[in-house]
Amino acid sequence: MSRNTDAIAAALRDHLPGGAAIRAVVPLTTGFSNETYRIEGPDWILRLPPSAGAMVEGHDVIAQARVYAALGEVEHGPPVPGIVAICEDESVIGAPFFVMECMAGEPVAEIQLQDWFTGPDDAFRTQLGRKWIAAFASLAKLAPLVTLGDPVSPEDDARMWQGFARKSGCADVVAAFDRLLAHPAPLSGPPAIIHGDVKLSNFMWDDGSLSAVLDWEMALNGDPLADLAYALLWVESPHHVAATPHRQPGMLDRAAIIEVWEATSGRSSAGVGWHEVAQMGKTNAIIAEGVAMFTSGRSDDPKLAVFQKNLDYYLGAMHAMLDAEGL
Ligand SMILES: Nc1ncnc2c1ncn2[C@@H]1O[C@H](COP(=O)(O)OP(=O)(O)O)[C@@H](O)[C@H]1O
Ligand SMILES: [Mg+2]
Repeated sequence: MSRNTDAIAAALRDHLPGGAAIRAVVPLTTGFSNETYRIEGPDWILRLPPSAGAMVEGHDVIAQARVYAALGEVEHGPPVPGIVAICEDESVIGAPFFVMECMAGEPVAEIQLQDWFTGPDDAFRTQLGRKWIAAFASLAKLAPLVTLGDPVSPEDDARMWQGFARKSGCADVVAAFDRLLAHPAPLSGPPAIIHGDVKLSNFMWDDGSLSAVLDWEMALNGDPLADLAYALLWVESPHHVAATPHRQPGMLDRAAIIEVWEATSGRSSAGVGWHEVAQMGKTNAIIAEGVAMFTSGRSDDPKLAVFQKNLDYYLGAMHAMLDAEGL
């Protein structure tokens, strides 16, 4: 189901201060996550809930705007887009929405890597990789963010994702979480802000500089080892392959990532193995829901057809990681 962008543009022209400058509303990304549109004229970005229904429930669009707004007030906080407007009134454009500044640059693509990323020498990608890790490691020095609510223990977070996998009917992921949850989670110190989805494609780069940290839909207050662990899922380990951007020469390996994270956060990475399994479980729970959406006919998106193969691979990796950690 696609939305009428002309009608949205007309409504925003009337509703937003400075809206008269709006020329058009153009789709950027649509799918299972919140939809993203570019507002041409004032150069803003519009975000709306998915018109097809969300894959991961509970990550509402307004909550994300509040996180951006709160982070914008934090001293030494990450670079985030400024919020232009938040509208909970569904009558304006047919759904709650928010509008933010359009940030300069773009994220590194997940598969079709851009020339600006592959072209320069290895040192370019090394400094980019160091800035990527430092950007979320520095969150470990910040106090929890009030808008994200009470801190969540790593075990409670794992139980939440285990429940998500149970709802999707994936008993294998549920059982792998049981193995993990038989052992207490190591902590690195007091709770801090966790981004929750620190894959490289959620970071925007402008001429090699970090211009924005996006996509705080899974953010929470908790132990920062969670973000380190999630980042490590994308690089090569004895248990899984590296994602495409991380295979480029100059990109940081596991040891280098841990070194930058420890130096920036001031915390020890000891016990990160437990968290890597937990983050792999979270990833598997999301993939399992994609499989369930496809096999139940709730979605016929061809992208979901490969999810079963991915689930088999990453479940195998999860068990190998549990074995290696003695869990
Ligand atoms: N404020 C912004 N300025 C420029 N581009 C943005 C902005 N917010 C989102 N985008 C673009 O939209 C894409 C998706 O945004 P993101 O917050 O990562 O959400 P999701 O991955 O859940 O769809 C980003 O990769 C980026 O290209
Ligand atoms: Mg994203």
